[in-house]
Amino acid sequence: GSHPFFLFLPLEYSGFRGIFPALILQNARAHTMMKWVVGRFRPPPGITWEKRGMDMRITDLSFMQGYIRMATDGANMGWHERNGGNLSYRMRPEDVDTARKFFDKEPRPWVPLGVEAPTMGGAYFLVTGAGNYMRNVATDPSRNIGIVELSAAGDAYRIVWGLDDGGRPTSEFPTHVMNHAVRAEATDGACRVIYHAHPTNIIALSYLLPLDARTFTRVLWKAMTECVVVFPAGVGVVPWMVPGGADIARATSEQMKTFDAVVWASHGLFVSGADFDATFGLLHTIEKAADIYGRARAMNGGSGEFLNTITDEGLRQIGREFNVKINEAMLDFPAASATDN
Ligand code: 13P
Ligand code: ZN
Repeated sequence: GSHPFFLFLPLEYSGFRGIFPALILQNARAHTMMKWVVGRFRPPPGITWEKRGMDMRITDLSFMQGYIRMATDGANMGWHERNGGNLSYRMRPEDVDTARKFFDKEPRPWVPLGVEAPTMGGAYFLVTGAGNYMRNVATDPSRNIGIVELSAAGDAYRIVWGLDDGGRPTSEFPTHVMNHAVRAEATDGACRVIYHAHPTNIIALSYLLPLDARTFTRVLWKAMTECVVVFPAGVGVVPWMVPGGADIARATSEQMKTFDAVVWASHGLFVSGADFDATFGLLHTIEKAADIYGRARAMNGGSGEFLNTITDEGLRQIGREFNVKINEAMLDFPAASATDN
């Protein structure tokens, strides 16, 4: 067609001496054209910011979103007073690929880790900064968290993104890295998240119970029926130690060979998992069981001798019905006598 899209008509306005152009849309043609223009700016449904690679911030990446949500949820649960607790995520190769364009032009200098984790050599971790508050992660990610690359030998790290203004990884980073190494091996590489928190009830329990894995595991398993399904290996216990260094990292990772959760006496809890949901859920379950046990004891006049408890045979039954392999070393009778029928 030879129709012009716009007709400019001279119009006289009272009060104005100029001639104003008026825009007349030639209906059908203009409508088609406008749809084309709008379509240039709106992605078709299902095409994410990540896939378009446009106007994207590093915090739009899904692993970042999962991390930030978990840090916020943990803070809202009351598990992170002040700078208490820290969280690390071992990035997948595809996470590193999508995040790399946001990395610093010049990585910061290598810093000795204080421990060695050779199997983690070359890995990238998203991790909380030392002294930083979990409740501030969502509002100011690049200051409160950072991406850290491990040296090939797994004995040093350097910051490649975030931890703005001279930040450094959490003082528990040696424990995080060593736990990642042990749990990755124990789970065929499935474990990606290590989480440290200061939940009230599990800390309180560590004033009360003998500091051994068997006692804690049995109390927690029997506090709530589905605990044995959520942590069938049980929980480990590290006696009171000075936090934030190589010694507590070694002691904790030793326990992590058997358990995916480890109590730090008078301090808190370290847990591990394949993703943010599983890891958050594990800590939540343990803390809730500790809460129930504490309340039941208080209702019981302080005594741990209860009228009703889950029996060891009951725990075995759950193991069979739910098809989970529960840690027999935590149970009271040899498996053969109780299960062979
Ligand atoms: P950071 O501030 O170094 O992460 O320490 C918090 C903490 O909980 C130490 O155990
Ligand atoms: Zn702590």
